[in-house]
Amino acid sequence: MKRTAQSKLPRFSSPLAPPPSSTPALVERPAWQALVDHHRNIGTRHLREFFADDPQRGERLQVDAAGLYFDYSKNRVTDDTLALLVDLAEHCGLRERRDAMFRGESVNATEKRAALHTALRAPADASIVVDGVNVVPEVHAVLERMANFAERVRSGEWRGHTGKVIRNVINIGIGGSDLGPVMACEALRHYGKSGLHLGFVSNLDPTDVVEATRGLDAAETLFIVCSKSFRTLDTLTNAHAARAWSLAQLGDERAIASHFVAVSTNTEAVAAFGIDPAHMFALWDWVGGRYSMDSAIGLITMIAVGPEHFRAMLAGFRAMDMHFHSAPLARNMPVLMGLLAIWNNNFLGAQTLAVLPYNQDLKRFPAYLQQLTMESNGKHVTASSQAVSTPTSPIVWGDTGTNGQHSFFQLLHQGTRLVACDFIGFSHSQNPLGDQHDLLMANLFAQSEALAFGKTAQALMAEGVDETQVAQRVCRGNRPTNTLLADRLTPHTLGALVALYEHSVFTQGVIWNIDSFDQWGVELGKRLAQRIATELADTGHAPLTHDSSTNALMRRYEQHRKESS
Ligand code: F6P
Repeated sequence: MKRTAQSKLPRFSSPLAPPPSSTPALVERPAWQALVDHHRNIGTRHLREFFADDPQRGERLQVDAAGLYFDYSKNRVTDDTLALLVDLAEHCGLRERRDAMFRGESVNATEKRAALHTALRAPADASIVVDGVNVVPEVHAVLERMANFAERVRSGEWRGHTGKVIRNVINIGIGGSDLGPVMACEALRHYGKSGLHLGFVSNLDPTDVVEATRGLDAAETLFIVCSKSFRTLDTLTNAHAARAWSLAQLGDERAIASHFVAVSTNTEAVAAFGIDPAHMFALWDWVGGRYSMDSAIGLITMIAVGPEHFRAMLAGFRAMDMHFHSAPLARNMPVLMGLLAIWNNNFLGAQTLAVLPYNQDLKRFPAYLQQLTMESNGKHVTASSQAVSTPTSPIVWGDTGTNGQHSFFQLLHQGTRLVACDFIGFSHSQNPLGDQHDLLMANLFAQSEALAFGKTAQALMAEGVDETQVAQRVCRGNRPTNTLLADRLTPHTLGALVALYEHSVFTQGVIWNIDSFDQWGVELGKRLAQRIATELADTGHAPLTHDSSTNALMRRYEQHRKESS
């Protein structure tokens, strides 16, 4: 093993990580070491050189699938880099792990369950067996029930308790039970039913539910309580608040039946809340929260856009699934995207990924990807409980173009940190207005060009820029970006786009050998919050036994509450 090569790596040495184990780590593997050596050879080469050396590069380093065109030529890679990354994927068993996921095996090892979101978009005649049961007929039965209910709400057949038509649909959920639906409803608002108001309540902050219901007529308002577990404090608290708000206006317990439906795996808890299980839409433990927007969790999306468009979205997911399942790794869009993310993160040291949709309807897409990526891959141990030997998930953030250009792009161009970027754009606007869409897309193309090629001192001087200003104006370029281009933002395109990121995240998780489907890290804070909530509720509580900072904060909070009560 070549130890010297490793010292060149931006090696991971987090003081927060558990102690390393003696089992050979990812960074010790020959396929990884080959990339380390290769990185040493090409590390400083500039995208300007790559493009100058190969005039066809922009046409070669792209792949088309499921209606998406993925240009990855503006990454700091050569054909050798790509071959070595694919080799790494082979060595890490990506093909086998992918097939195991599609077959419904327990790829979520720590929770001992399948991660079978791909079954949510499988055709009715497919067979995917989990614990001896073909889950596909169940999936389609739920889709049918959803479609039936959605049509009844949309047509006005489903009435409120007083006989009024439903004009407001409010989703109450958090994390995966919120971010997917809110993102999809926004992304597909062009396809939405006019006159139907959609609302989303997620935050435990009472302001969220109060503002979402302010001014609404409860007799025209339907709540969808979305919680896979039906145990999430935030969601249940908001659902109780919504229930109280409805009862205050409608004055009759029986009204709940027409104004509350649930999406969950937990029939008992749904019934205990007071929602008739006949008004519950099921999902299964093999659907992870952040992978659930195409399950019954998407009920509000289906009500908004109608069953046909929802099915078109599922077809988009499916098209990308099929591509991921069968395209050769070297021509496989999610695989390439995932491997390039590994290269940018672990070899070039880009700790963050900026997601930049040049589309107003995708404004919630970066937030959606934050959960998908960081809850999946923000892990510090491998699936076999050993400390990881490299950084794992990048930090995902972003905003729509052109808004981002006028806020944080300065740092992308001239800051001291390398940020990988995903640009997302469409050839057609859903709202054509003169040449405005061309202007928007000109900005997308210009930004990725500027990030790649920058501006040299020589070029600035040739333009006559004052010598004293040259250093300020130089843009070094060589910033890695992907560009995704599609014809327009349709339900099908949205499905394909989400599935692309799902599988890219999976690919990265396989390379790091982490469980991308659990989320144990969120539990500690939840437990502590429960304890603190009990202490805050008990005014004469025993002396606080937290650390001195938490104790002092709690005392100050209690003091403020006493003073103003
Ligand atoms: O706290 C994290 C989490 O478990 C997410 O993974 C999930 O999407 C969210 O909470 C909501 O969970 P549920 O749908 O069970 O309310």
